[in-house]
Amino acid sequence: ETVDVTLTINGREQAFSLDARTTLLDLLREEQDLTGTKVGCNHGQCGACTVLLDGTRINSCLTLAAMADGSEVTTIEGLGTPDELHPMQQAFIENDGFQCGYCTPGQIMSAVGLVAEGHAGDEAEIREYMSGNLCRCGAYKGIVEAIRQARD
Ligand code: FES
Repeated sequence: ETVDVTLTINGREQAFSLDARTTLLDLLREEQDLTGTKVGCNHGQCGACTVLLDGTRINSCLTLAAMADGSEVTTIEGLGTPDELHPMQQAFIENDGFQCGYCTPGQIMSAVGLVAEGHAGDEAEIREYMSGNLCRCGAYKGIVEAIRQARD
């Protein structure tokens, strides 16, 4: 079944005709070439695919594009530019919030959402609310420090 979906992706409104089963993750990566959003587990377990949907963080692998109809999607490409990084991106660099970098776009999108939600209080709260984003390199200490820096 084909469905018509309108999304505003990184500030640009676009219309799509899609297979109803297309996930937001596949739409972003395969139709839009927005490959900053990563595929990890594809089952809602790792957070590599995190994007903001109307400002709220979601796992794009679990979200059908059709469910997001009419929404605003923000990906890592929509946060900053190479010349002018978003404060959270800058903070991840300054605090060694990554090693291999694969999970980093998801970590950063989740971190931006977490600050917006008001859940970036102490370290315990940050760790709890970031627990959906796994880092196989174990860069958690730097991630927490980056979030605290960007929050302030
Ligand atoms: Fe979506 Fe792992 S790829 S949570």
